[in-house]
Amino acid sequence: MKIDHQVDIKPFTTFGISEPVQDFVSLEHVNELIAFLNTESLNEKKHLILGGGSNLLFVKPFDGLVISPKIMGIEMTTESENKVVVCAGAGEVWDDFVKYCVDNKFWGIENLSLIPGTVGAAPVQNIGAYGVEAQDAIFSVEAVNRFDGTIKTFEKADCQFGYRDSIFKQTEAWIVTRVFFELSKIAHPQLSYEPLKQRFTNLIDVQIEEIRQAVIQIRQSKLPDPKEVGNAGSFFKNPVIDLHDFNRLQAEYPNMPLHLVDIDKAKIPAAWLIDQAGWKGYRKGEAGVHPNQALVLINYGAAKGHEILELSKSIEQSVLDKFGIVLEREVIVVS
Ligand code: EPU
Repeated sequence: MKIDHQVDIKPFTTFGISEPVQDFVSLEHVNELIAFLNTESLNEKKHLILGGGSNLLFVKPFDGLVISPKIMGIEMTTESENKVVVCAGAGEVWDDFVKYCVDNKFWGIENLSLIPGTVGAAPVQNIGAYGVEAQDAIFSVEAVNRFDGTIKTFEKADCQFGYRDSIFKQTEAWIVTRVFFELSKIAHPQLSYEPLKQRFTNLIDVQIEEIRQAVIQIRQSKLPDPKEVGNAGSFFKNPVIDLHDFNRLQAEYPNMPLHLVDIDKAKIPAAWLIDQAGWKGYRKGEAGVHPNQALVLINYGAAKGHEILELSKSIEQSVLDKFGIVLEREVIVVS
C-alpha cells in the first residue's frame, strides 16, 4: 500500500471541485484495510472514507487522510428456488452492480439504476429513488471498525436504516467492505412512483430491463450527468414536517405536494420549496441551481466549494423565510 501526498480530489468527486488532500491511500483488499488500520491510529488523525465521491463537497484544502476502499468483486453466495443472495465489494461502481443484477434478472434494485457512487456508499446513505431504497434489498453488511480494525457483519435489523440514514452514517465507526443483497428471481416490478408507472402502458409482464431503461431515461431527462456538469444529486433532504404545519401552509399554497410518512407527518419535496422560492435555474458565477431539478446544485466548471456552500445557505435562508421550513443537507461538507 502506498500513501500519496497533496492529491487533487477533483477526479474523485462528482462535484468536480479541486482541493488538495494531504494524504490519500487506496486499499484493495479487506485484509489490507485491516492491516492499515492496525498501523494507523485513526482516532488521533483527521480522516475521511471516500466512496464514489457523489455526496461530498470539499470547501477547503483537506489537511488529513483520505481512505479509498477499493474492494472489488461480485458473486452469488446462495441461491434458492425464488431468491439469490449476491455479495458485492464496497468499491464496485453502484450502477455496474445494478446492471449485473438486471442482466441476470435478479429483481430488487433496478429502480436504483444510474445512481452515482459505489456499492459501499449504498447502505451508508440508504440510497433511494423511484419508490425503492437500498434497505429493501440489503440482506447484511460487512464492515470494519476504523478505530480497532475488527470486522463485523451487520444483519439488516442492526443497520438502523432510515430515510438517507443508517448506523454507518450515525456512528462513523464503520468502514463498509462488502454488502449482501437478497434479490428475487421472480418478477417483482415496483412501479408505485407515478412518473415511472406512467411510462408503462401495459403493467402485465413488465421486464426488468424495461424498468432499468425507464429509470435511466427519467434520470437523464431531469438530473445532470456528473461527467458533464459537476453536481452531487439532491443537495438537500426532503423535509418532514408536522401535518398541522402542512395544513397551515397548504391554505396559503394549495399546490404544495406532500407524501405522508406517518399519521401526523408529511414529507415535502425540497425541490418544490426551492423552486417556489425562485431559485430554479439561478446562476451566480460558476455555481448554480439546475434548470430542470431545483434540488440539484451545480458547478458550471470552475466553482469553488465555498461558492456552492454559500449558494446553499442562501437557499436555506430563503426557504426558511418563505415557508418556515428548515432544509437539511444531504451532501456532506468536508472542511
Ligand atoms: N419539483 C418541483 N421543482 C423541481 C423539481 C421537482 O416543484 O425543480 C416537484 C415535482 O413536481 C414533484 C416533487 O418536486 O412533485 C418531487 O420531485 P421528484 O419526484 O423529482 O423527486 P425529489 O423529491 O426531488 C427524490 C430523491 C432523489 C430521487 C427522486 C426520485 C431526495 C432528497 N431526493 O427527489 O434522489 O432520485 O426522489 O425518486 O430524497 C439523490 O438523493 O441524490 C436523489 C437524486
